Amino acid sequence: MTASRPVVVVVAMWLMVICSSVDTVAGDDLKLFTIHVKDDMASGTPCVTRVNCTGFWNKMWPGQEFHYSDLRKSRVACTAIWNDKDSIWQAFDPWRDAGHLNVYTSIREDGFYFSFDQSNWTLISKWFS
Ligand SMILES: *[C@@H]1O[C@H](CO)[C@@H](O)[C@H](O)[C@H]1NC(C)=O
Ligand SMILES: *[C@@H]1O[C@H](CO)[C@@H](O)[C@H](O)[C@H]1NC(C)=O
Repeated sequence: MTASRPVVVVVAMWLMVICSSVDTVAGDDLKLFTIHVKDDMASGTPCVTRVNCTGFWNKMWPGQEFHYSDLRKSRVACTAIWNDKDSIWQAFDPWRDAGHLNVYTSIREDGFYFSFDQSNWTLISKWFS
């Protein structure tokens, strides 16, 4: 039992180093960045989508969009609920998004698309039921 304890401590310290280093990017700490989230479900989609990026739930209808700005410091994971499905995606990630002050998410029936320029969209997460 006592022999395994130092290993646990070393692993815990290593995880702390990894986790703290991925949360911020040196030099980008004080830049304002903006997260844009748009509901791109087909119009006529009967159900509202609920999105939580900021600590409370935003109701969204097809075509609706919201954005908010923050000081660039740590990753932002958003959660969403639609019908009987839910999901989570990385709306902002300091490493992935370094050098970009605007990040865009398009919410669609088949999942969550991410873009820096609103023309090149990459599917980054799906709905789970
Ligand atoms: C919104 O998401 C955050 C982070 O996942 C969570 O801590 C918080 O409880 C959520 N807010 C609500 C109202 O569910
Ligand atoms: C589109 O975005 C992906 C992911 O960010 C990137 O790997 C790829 O190079 C981009 N393609 C173009 C044509 O910009």
